[in-house]
Amino acid sequence: MSHNQSHIAHIRHDYSLAALDEVVTGNDPIAFFQKWFDEAHAAEISEVNAMTLASVDALGKPHARIVLLKGIENGGFTFFTNYESAKGHDLASHPEVALLFFWKELERQVRVEGIAKKIDVLDSDIYFHSRPEGSRLGAWASPQSQVISDRTIIESNYAAFEKQFSGGAIPRPPHWGGYSIVPQKIEFWQGRSNRMHDRVHFTLEENESWSKCRLAP
Ligand SMILES: Cc1cc2nc3c(=O)[nH]c(=O)nc-3n(C[C@H](O)[C@H](O)[C@H](O)COP(=O)(O)O)c2cc1C
Repeated sequence: MSHNQSHIAHIRHDYSLAALDEVVTGNDPIAFFQKWFDEAHAAEISEVNAMTLASVDALGKPHARIVLLKGIENGGFTFFTNYESAKGHDLASHPEVALLFFWKELERQVRVEGIAKKIDVLDSDIYFHSRPEGSRLGAWASPQSQVISDRTIIESNYAAFEKQFSGGAIPRPPHWGGYSIVPQKIEFWQGRSNRMHDRVHFTLEENESWSKCRLAP
């Protein structure tokens, strides 16, 4: 092992802030997620709504990237993106996805597994029009995930759309909108000392009620 690798191998952190008891989580993991989210927000964690989205492409290969949680509507976790992006194609062929939150300052992780569905166009419109003008133009300017020869491509696209929409409303691009991840499993992880962490794992049963269990760390 090189000097640098042995340095990496010795990085470790012992978790000691809190415990997680399966009684405390209650029986509604969405409500408990909101409680943990509110605590993370109150703790002023930076980019608290950033979550890793893992998807699988048509060939079964996994891909992961960060997206921003924009709400929890009807029990689903919403984010916005380009439907023609690599992730958009992944979700069209495999709607099963995983989401991951890591709030390290609270020594907490939340794992969500579920099904991605496009949200109603009207809800995508409402959110799109709440975004700053620059972000709305950016959605038009960027053919997300496509190879571009250099940065001037998106900069000249941006300038062209700025001109096209000057003085008028900027409509939502038809290829841009939201997905809702409807969860089937949600797991709450609280770091504990000596790697003896707490994991409370919820599963949505066929009768639409949630069951829960404790998993070994
Ligand atoms: C903090 C952060 C937030 C991001 N939020 C979003 C987002 O909400 N939507 C989005 O499409 N991409 C977002 N991105 C960019 C994605 O990680 C990714 O680069 C992009 O969506 C293209 O992914 P794809 O080629 O796999 O489709 C974010 C990146 C970071 C680092």
